[in-house]
Amino acid sequence: MGFVIAIDGPAAAGKGTLARKLAEHYGLPHLDTGLTYRATAKALVDAGKPLDDETIAAETAAAIDLGNLDRAVLSAHEIGEAASKVAAMPSVRVALVEAQRRFAEAGRGAVLDGRDIGTVVCPDAPVKLYVTADAEIRARRRYDEIVARGETADFTQILDDVRRRDERDMGRKDSPLRPADDAHLLDTSKMGIEAAFRAACAYVDKRLDP
Ligand code: DC
Repeated sequence: MGFVIAIDGPAAAGKGTLARKLAEHYGLPHLDTGLTYRATAKALVDAGKPLDDETIAAETAAAIDLGNLDRAVLSAHEIGEAASKVAAMPSVRVALVEAQRRFAEAGRGAVLDGRDIGTVVCPDAPVKLYVTADAEIRARRRYDEIVARGETADFTQILDDVRRRDERDMGRKDSPLRPADDAHLLDTSKMGIEAAFRAACAYVDKRLDP
């Protein structure tokens, strides 16, 4: 295994931004694994196929091209909801985890972020970060993002969504969201992204040169 940085945590904790910044800083390729679940869900919807047929969903997952994941196209709320349903199917996970591992092992290292990177996809990663923040704070960040785009948002509904997504991700039988035993916890409730990035770099540098 090369220099793999595994980043896990709940939705809207800041792990995506952190993963992108770390990848840029250390000159490593980055994979947002949530996009692979989103792409599977979108491919099913676009083809008019059901979201609850595991065989069809797994075939669709196996055909996803990791080189062609468009964040803008996949960011819609409904796609996220559909993604969390296909993400609960074991054979979808097998197909996507295989592709994610190939990405992680292709070069001298990589940054992957998701829910099960440190526990399942790359259990031997030399650096594991578990990025979290209080649900209210994560909902507030989502709300501020939407309002900043000039759209309207309902805070209570967003908070409900965040909690429901947490329950689904942490409560599912296959690969539930949880910190790996050897993950470094980073609670971003009281820090901005720059402070979180500095804290993460300090940890990564220590692992690189103990
Ligand atoms: O992080 P996101 O919202 O893009 O993730 C979409 C869905 O995929 C979410 O319900 C969690 C799931 N997911 C997962 O089960 N495992 C991963 N490694 C990444 C995402």
